[in-house]
Amino acid sequence: VTSLLHVDSSIRHDGSTSRTLAAQFAQTWLQGGADRTVVYRDLTVTPPPHLSWDAFTAAMTPAGDHTEEQSSAAKAREELIVELESADALLLSSPMYNYSIPSALKAWIDNVIVMSRTAGRPDGTGALTGKPVTVVLSRGGGYGPGTPRAAWNHQEAYLRHVLEALGADDIHIVAAELTLASSNPAMVGLVGAAEESLAAAERAVAGRAAA
Ligand SMILES: Cc1cc2nc3c(=O)[nH]c(=O)nc-3n(C[C@H](O)[C@H](O)[C@H](O)COP(=O)(O)O)c2cc1C
Repeated sequence: VTSLLHVDSSIRHDGSTSRTLAAQFAQTWLQGGADRTVVYRDLTVTPPPHLSWDAFTAAMTPAGDHTEEQSSAAKAREELIVELESADALLLSSPMYNYSIPSALKAWIDNVIVMSRTAGRPDGTGALTGKPVTVVLSRGGGYGPGTPRAAWNHQEAYLRHVLEALGADDIHIVAAELTLASSNPAMVGLVGAAEESLAAAERAVAGRAAA
C-alpha cells in the first residue's frame, strides 16, 4: 500500500481554494494505482495542541523517565509524528493568513519536527526524505517578483524551509494567487490575472498528481 498523508488547514470549508485544489490532487493521485490510499487530517477539525514544554522535553527523555505530564503530552504528539513517518507521500494545503500560514498548521509543524528523529539528523535525512511532497497554497493578494509585497510572502519560503528541514528532497509547490480579486472591488483589474493563476494552479496540480 502506498499512502498519501493529506493535510488541510484553511478555516474555510466550502469555497476554499486551497482545499479544492488539494482535493483535486488527492482524487487524481488515488487513480494512479489500486494500492493507493489517503490518510486525511483536517487541522481545523482536530487542531493539534500548541507544543508544550512537557511535549518538547518528552522527546529528549527516555519514556521510562517521563513524568505523568510528559507521558500524556508525548502521546498526543506521537500520533501526529507517526502519521507523518508512516506516509509515503505528503500533500499539504495552506492559505496565506497575515502573510504567513494558519496557526493550526504552525502547531502541527512544531509537533512533528523532532530533532534527531524527523529532522536534524547528522546525515541530513528526515521524515520526508525520498517522499514526494506537494504543497498547495492560496493567497488573496499577489506576491510575485517585482510586486510591492513580494518580500511579505512568509508563507511559501517558510513552508519550503520547514519541509527541507524534515529532509524533503522532492517538493512541488503550487500557488493560486489573487483569490480575493473577485470579491474586493479595489482588485477589479486583477480578476483576469486571478483566473489565470487558478487555471495554472489546476494544471500544475493535475500534472503533479498524475506524475
Ligand atoms: C484570517 C485571514 C487572513 C488573511 N491574510 C491574508 C494575507 O496576509 N495576505 C493575503 O494575500 N491574503 C490574506 N487572506 C486571504 C486568503 O489568503 C485568501 O482568501 C485565500 O484564498 C484563503 O485560502 P482558502 O480559499 O483556501 O481558504 C487572509 C484571509 C483570512 C481569512
